[in-house]
Amino acid sequence: MKVMAHRGYSGAYPENTMLAFRKAVEAGTDGIELDVHETKDGQLVVFHDEIIDRTTDGAGPILSYTLSELKAFNAAKLYEGRLPFEPIPSFEEYCAWAAAQKIFTNIEIKTDNVFYPDIERKTWDTVVRYGLEDRVMFSSFNHLSLLRLKEIVPPEIKLGALVPRVNGLKVFPGAYCGWAGFQAYHAPVEILDEENVRDCKEHGIQINSWTVNDMAGLEKLWDLGCDGIITNFPGVAKGWLLSQEAGK
Ligand code: G3P
Ligand code: CA
Repeated sequence: MKVMAHRGYSGAYPENTMLAFRKAVEAGTDGIELDVHETKDGQLVVFHDEIIDRTTDGAGPILSYTLSELKAFNAAKLYEGRLPFEPIPSFEEYCAWAAAQKIFTNIEIKTDNVFYPDIERKTWDTVVRYGLEDRVMFSSFNHLSLLRLKEIVPPEIKLGALVPRVNGLKVFPGAYCGWAGFQAYHAPVEILDEENVRDCKEHGIQINSWTVNDMAGLEKLWDLGCDGIITNFPGVAKGWLLSQEAGK
């Protein structure tokens, strides 16, 4: 099983910042999961929410700011007094850094609530510009974004169908992903069970599960034989997995 650091090492550092990404690598993660949105001037930024209020000292929608305006906000607001100013990274900045790392990246296209025309093409073009083609996969809750990616990226690039905790596709996800041409099922750990895992395996669909931040979750994914763990604590998950593998 592979460990993906959810929004970087977000259990201990400001989510979706370069600091959180660097710390995830230092902790030994196999991969990084991050979220991509677009700014008012059409730039790609790494950020989770549609508005910047929760994690920065600014307010309002990402879409209402240019990239240079967004750079003035502190993405480490929740760590005030403990950590210095940390900017919102552009996706380009992330790719420039990732090109020198030995990790893969799970890029979530955040088109669940906002329609960003051509975000899929822009994201892929940036991946190619930095030579990261063999170290990325894509995921999205908006499966139309995945279908759009299918038209853009080579067939060997994995696409993961994210499904929500509430009303997420729980029955026959393997058949669904196979039918749609998605290579992976990205399910919350709570909705995984022996039946839907078996269905995925029968259809050759990978299972990457989120957000696994406790031992019960790790053990469940290990017992079910999942492929990837998306966690806020990559160091803990990696250490536990290594000890499991050593004891096999
Ligand atoms: O990739 C799994 C997870 O990131 C999906 O939920 O809201 O954290 O983007 P969210
Ligand atoms: Ca995400």
